[in-house]
Amino acid sequence: MILGGNKMKKDNNIITESQTRETFSSGLTIFFATLGSAVGLGNIWKFPYLVGENGGGAFVLIYFVSVLLIGIPVMVSEFYIGRKTRSNVVTAFTLLKASPIWKFIGYMGMVSSMFILFFYSTVGGWVYSYAFKALKGDFTNLATLSISNASQIVENQFLTTVGGVYSPIIWQGLVLLVISLILIAGVKNGIERITKTLMPVLFILLILCSLRALTLSGAKAGLDFLFKVDFSKVNSSVILSALGLAFFKLSLGMGTMVTYGSYFTDDNNLIHTSAKVALSDTLVSALAGIAIFPVVFTFGLAPDSGPGLLFNTIPLVFSKIPFGNILLIAFFLLSSIAATTAMISMMEVPVAFMSENWDIKRKHSVMILSGIIFFVGVFTTHPTSIFGNILIFNKNFFDLFDFISSNILLPAGGLLIAIFVGYFVKKEDILKELSNNHTLDNSQTIGIYHFVLRYISPLLLLIVFLNSLGII
Ligand code: TRP
Repeated sequence: MILGGNKMKKDNNIITESQTRETFSSGLTIFFATLGSAVGLGNIWKFPYLVGENGGGAFVLIYFVSVLLIGIPVMVSEFYIGRKTRSNVVTAFTLLKASPIWKFIGYMGMVSSMFILFFYSTVGGWVYSYAFKALKGDFTNLATLSISNASQIVENQFLTTVGGVYSPIIWQGLVLLVISLILIAGVKNGIERITKTLMPVLFILLILCSLRALTLSGAKAGLDFLFKVDFSKVNSSVILSALGLAFFKLSLGMGTMVTYGSYFTDDNNLIHTSAKVALSDTLVSALAGIAIFPVVFTFGLAPDSGPGLLFNTIPLVFSKIPFGNILLIAFFLLSSIAATTAMISMMEVPVAFMSENWDIKRKHSVMILSGIIFFVGVFTTHPTSIFGNILIFNKNFFDLFDFISSNILLPAGGLLIAIFVGYFVKKEDILKELSNNHTLDNSQTIGIYHFVLRYISPLLLLIVFLNSLGII
């Protein structure tokens, strides 16, 4: 395989005969690193608040169907492009001998990555600052307060956190500094080591959280909200949000999974990895929902209270149990780590491109990108204060960047990827790559994947798109 413009450094890389690109070291690390990209603020922050805003169970069901019929096939396709070409998301299309027009997917991916990072790093800053607040013991007095006082105090805490002038910017800067340092250390050293050890711990902590929430008096109401399907609440914008969330959650539609796939080993079963990652990620989201909604109903909060939902509920989950504060510290520390690994995977897309195609050193690419994100990110850092009052299309910068990336760019990227792999790649090539050069006996599964990719995923995506634009 010829690798155009691949100038990655060779130290501590695993080098196979045909390439000089780093790869993850084993199947398990591939799984955890990919899950580390998928699991992030999307699970613990975005999923619960979107479920709350979009009426509960029906949204969850549509989300799940989107994961199965669109998310998994698109993820397999991204892995296919990445591992086959072992290159970044722009060069990949050249190596596949596709018309240069397809490179547009790659460039659009860079834009999505930046747009997401603008607001994601803001929320990352909130989560870091909550870890710090919990460490300082800011929530320890909740145990002595009545239900309504406690929830009032927690809500005020959130408003002061996001409403400050300098502190949100400083926290966001710290987040960017951390991800920059890890990215400069390199994919294998940086990403692999962190995700492998900490993902399982986060998972266990979420289980503890949910178990505690299930003992609250509002547990039944919370679970009903989360899992009882009521289609009367569904309209086209609910469907588009669920679909957008599936892309956002699984890090799809902008080349993250192409880039990660390019670091996979040759013997990895791409279809299995996709299915395992998608289902584990959904499980983590469900656990976050189970931890949060019982609190909402026990403490009389509004399910549709928006981006503050996570911050207004979790401190209450742990408020009246032994070692509650330690668990709270652990929760926000691990969430900070989950947010960090997800951001790393987002930024890796333009970093890989700039360092490989423009001959800019990895270190410099990281610094340039973090600088841009920090600068533009300041506009989103103040969703409720300074810049929050500037509205474009009736949305402040925070919501605008989120809407354009999650609800438009990612699904559009996914649609193009599905069309490209479904219609412009020869079926034999797909069979060969997904069966690891015919060493796996999975031609039937590949057949199902290929059918869904050609006839179901793009159609559903198109219908949802056109419908939300009011065309059908
Ligand atoms: N999936 C991550 C989350 O849920 C966010 C994320 C990481 C992402 N990489 C991405 C979203 C690429 C879209 C595209 O928090």
